[in-house]
Amino acid sequence: MAIPQRVMDYLRANGVREAPVLARLRAETAKLPNAMMQIAPEQGALLQMLVRLIGARRCVEVGTFTGYSALAVALALPDDGRITACDVSEEWTQVARRYWVEAGIAGKIDLRLAPATQTLDALLAAGGAGTIDFGFIDADKTGYDAYYERLLQLLRPGGLVVFDNVLWGGSVADPADRSADTEALRALNAKLATDQRIDLCMVPVGDGFSLCRKR
Ligand SMILES: C[S@@+](CC[C@H](N)C(=O)[O-])C[C@H]1O[C@@H](n2cnc3c(N)ncnc32)[C@H](O)[C@@H]1O
Repeated sequence: MAIPQRVMDYLRANGVREAPVLARLRAETAKLPNAMMQIAPEQGALLQMLVRLIGARRCVEVGTFTGYSALAVALALPDDGRITACDVSEEWTQVARRYWVEAGIAGKIDLRLAPATQTLDALLAAGGAGTIDFGFIDADKTGYDAYYERLLQLLRPGGLVVFDNVLWGGSVADPADRSADTEALRALNAKLATDQRIDLCMVPVGDGFSLCRKR
């Protein structure tokens, strides 16, 4: 957080290999009023590194928007890798679908347009417990804990779930901020800090990632 712009420019120029199709999606999304919802390039690069490090093949994303994070993950997956992408917006995910087709990885992404708890419950009901290698949670903040509990069941031991926005622009460390989103993230961070079901590492990349490895 609060890294000077020239240092960020340096980091992105020297430490991130953003595929041209990801850069084009970023440029198109930048024209939307909600562009700030998209993850940063260095966050995408970290997701790709994690997916490759754990040899992920089965992934779930909660919060797809215009498709950047799902595209980044799909590009890092092997040919038989798959990601289930959860969102509720037809409008935003139409942009996503265009770029997934352009990138040639649309067949790796199963987009489910429904409240994410419904989709995660459906995956569990279909026998998906213990089958997922990698999860990424980046949707409505008050829903994070419900998504976490379901994803933890879906993950295999050694699998990873990553949360975005855990620092929430620094608001989580401001006791005067009592907004619902801030309170939800603060409560989740406190829960994760002592949750013995996982190994935890909070990383100050973008708006803050928490990496949770299922024990
Ligand atoms: C921060 S954006 C996701 C950004 C995306 N990961 C990216 O890299 O561009 C949050 C998304 O969560 C979706 N969302 C909000 N509430 C949801 C819910 N209950 N179930 C599924 N998706 C939801 C929104 O429609 C929005 O597209």
